[in-house]
Amino acid sequence: MQVDCVLTNGRIHTPRGIVEAGIAIEEGRILKIAKKTNLPKASFKMDLNGLLVLPGLIDSHVHLRDQGYAYKEDFVTGTAAAAAGGFSLVVDMPNNKPVTMDVQSLRERMKLAQNKLLVNAAFCSAFPENTKEIRSIVGEGAIAFKLYLSEKIGGLNIDDDTEVLQALDEVKMTNVQVAVHAEDKGITENETKRKQEENRSDINAYLEAHSSDSEVKAIERIIGLAERTEAHVHFCHISSAKSLELIKKAKGVGVSVTCEATPHHLLLTSRDMKRYKNWAVTLPPVRTRKDTEALWKALKQGLIDTIGSDHAPHAIKEKNQKSLWKVKPGIAGLETTLPLMLTQVNKGRLTIKELVELTAKNPAEIFHLRDRGTILKGRLADLVVIDLKQEHKIDSSKFHSKAKFSPFDGWKTKGTPVKTFVNGCLVMEEGEIVAKPGTGEIIR
Ligand code: DOR
Ligand code: ZN
Ligand code: ZN
Repeated sequence: MQVDCVLTNGRIHTPRGIVEAGIAIEEGRILKIAKKTNLPKASFKMDLNGLLVLPGLIDSHVHLRDQGYAYKEDFVTGTAAAAAGGFSLVVDMPNNKPVTMDVQSLRERMKLAQNKLLVNAAFCSAFPENTKEIRSIVGEGAIAFKLYLSEKIGGLNIDDDTEVLQALDEVKMTNVQVAVHAEDKGITENETKRKQEENRSDINAYLEAHSSDSEVKAIERIIGLAERTEAHVHFCHISSAKSLELIKKAKGVGVSVTCEATPHHLLLTSRDMKRYKNWAVTLPPVRTRKDTEALWKALKQGLIDTIGSDHAPHAIKEKNQKSLWKVKPGIAGLETTLPLMLTQVNKGRLTIKELVELTAKNPAEIFHLRDRGTILKGRLADLVVIDLKQEHKIDSSKFHSKAKFSPFDGWKTKGTPVKTFVNGCLVMEEGEIVAKPGTGEIIR
């Protein structure tokens, strides 16, 4: 028997622990995990020289842009950045131009993405105006809905609890997830207006307008509604200690909630905003040392379920604004997330097992991405090969993303992805993209 691909001499991260073995791949799936002598012949063979093999990372929070925002990022550059960063599947966000919010816009977006993807992509929709359309959007292949509470994106009137409740009720029936951007629109709008009237555009004014109170209020509100509907809610980019307390309490009484942390909220504080200026502007903003410490504690306790990059590319002109109020918030995180987290592994702050849970196993489970997130016989062959010893200095000018800037520029990292396999195909090798767009698939 001759199979498609055999990788030998790896240290493979399986649910039973790390095993020294090879992997045989046939038709995009893991056929066998075994010692070299027990592996079949293959048309493509590769010796991994004892490197670590993890399940391909899943980033459940990525803004791939394209369409009207192709100048910021497109499906090719965004998924190239994903492959370079060790991700084999990304979940695309709906705040696009046009907004992904109904069957037609989702269908158009998927059609455009089809032949451009280098890694697999699943799509998230915003809520439609008519909640009855939720089912058909799921039928079209959306794997989740994104609920922005900071501004109206999509058709839902977010100021009206009855409408939000109705939407959550309807989603509950379809069994997909609701990912939430938790910032209270009322608080941020009023505070922003007030600061602007006071002619303030300093960092503190920006932070006060996007306070942790605003996050807390939004989370409290959604937990209350989730409790009533029993819909599953996944809170994106948690930034504050107080929010974590609320989520802990909700989980404790059985409310179906999970949450995400980003590398920037884990590794940067508001003091860094003075140093990295506009590159570090993101929403919700990075906060105090007390908050980052709480995030790390929650990560270690398993209270935080996923790490997402919140890859949010913008044009350099949009970041280079004099007034903070005009700076487009967002950090291009796909190519820095894994090296930054592996550096934390090398520092002893995180284990490989925790990293795999946060970036592969848990996102696969939460978003129902079948047969992914774990290396096992029969699962899909999405893999990332890691060199834990390779040291680098982050250099955003080398990003595959169109957004060639980062607050992490110049940061030293130890540990890097050296190969990414998507559906059994080698897509990235030593930082270079070696496959053609179209290798990635749309996951519905
Ligand atoms: O910083 C952010 N950027 N936060 C968001 O919620 C949106 C995102 C974007 O799309 O640029
Ligand atoms: Zn967000
Ligand atoms: Zn986002």
